[in-house]
Amino acid sequence: MNKTETIVKPATPEAIREAAKILREGGLVGMPTETVYGLGANALDSAAVLRIFEAKGRPADNPLIVHVSCVEEIPPLVREIPQAARRLMEAYWPGPMTLILPKADCIPAEVSAGLDTVGIRLPASETARALIREAGCPIAAPSANRSGKPSPTTAQHVYEDMNGRIPMILDGGACEVGVESSVIDATGEIPVILRPGGITPEMVEAACGAVRVDEHVMSPLAEGDIVRSPGMKYKHYAPTARTIIYEGEREHVIAAICARYDQAAAAGERVAILGFDEHDFGGRTRISLGSAENPQDAAARLFAALRELDEMGETMALCEAVGLEGIGLAVMNRMGRAAAFDIRRV
Ligand code: TXA
Ligand code: MG
Repeated sequence: MNKTETIVKPATPEAIREAAKILREGGLVGMPTETVYGLGANALDSAAVLRIFEAKGRPADNPLIVHVSCVEEIPPLVREIPQAARRLMEAYWPGPMTLILPKADCIPAEVSAGLDTVGIRLPASETARALIREAGCPIAAPSANRSGKPSPTTAQHVYEDMNGRIPMILDGGACEVGVESSVIDATGEIPVILRPGGITPEMVEAACGAVRVDEHVMSPLAEGDIVRSPGMKYKHYAPTARTIIYEGEREHVIAAICARYDQAAAAGERVAILGFDEHDFGGRTRISLGSAENPQDAAARLFAALRELDEMGETMALCEAVGLEGIGLAVMNRMGRAAAFDIRRV
């Protein structure tokens, strides 16, 4: 493993060419996308792909998403593009959506973790697409965090997790969407959302006339449950702080959070609130989720907020829930997992 300092470079055309060369030679690059930062490698090079698992500490049975720079690059990677997948591609690519499709033989088993399918994504990020074009190969990229940490939404987060493990990080600024792409099983007639993200169930239904949301999106996994996406099996990032989510009328939520805060603080806990800017928590420690009027703010800030909780050494976190409409489902899926789905209705 590479123990030298990782270089972070602003994503200029020159830096993108340098990163593409590293990828062509079988190395790893931290790369911005519109969702979260990815840890990229040449998707058709098994040895390069294995380096991703090593750098992340990722279980080998969790498959990787393959990123392309245009739709023309897809046919050699898959056996078939079903009708629903075509509709989704036309409507929402480039964008924060991964489609699960039947894989072609050229996709190494290391990428698909032995499954017969592969996740394909055409990202909206210009930097990501330029890098893929310049590298001249599809790029396998999971989120660039160490396994067990939140996905990185800035180059600094990638550096914290990957310094000394990879040669280079391209800095493209903070990610706009802030939660990982929607993962949609598009192998059948009705698309199934396996992981919610920026492309919402409402949007999928608008394009295809029907949608299903996997039952595990908003509930914890029970013993013996069979999952349709290996990622669902793993314990998702949870901060060290015991995390509780409050949902209900705004005034009730604020009152319940303040009461619990004071009780916990009196008992010697270090407490922080993850709350919206418009809401008055009377000077208690708050990490901002942005504006309550704009759930996209919470999506963009959640992972950085969770990292901050750990850095601040908090032992308890009290979070305001977001509505489940639109991107809210993705926010509540990640926040719910961070709280082991401890959601209190008040
Ligand atoms: O936004 C994103 O999707 C980011 C950026 C870098 O593109 N990538 C990302 O990758 O979040 P990762 O590896 O952290 O998450 C991929 C998820 C995992 O939960 C994995 O189990 C699931 O997608 N997945 C990948 N291939 C699959 C397949 N063939 N069938 C079912 N689930 C799959
Ligand atoms: Mg991940």
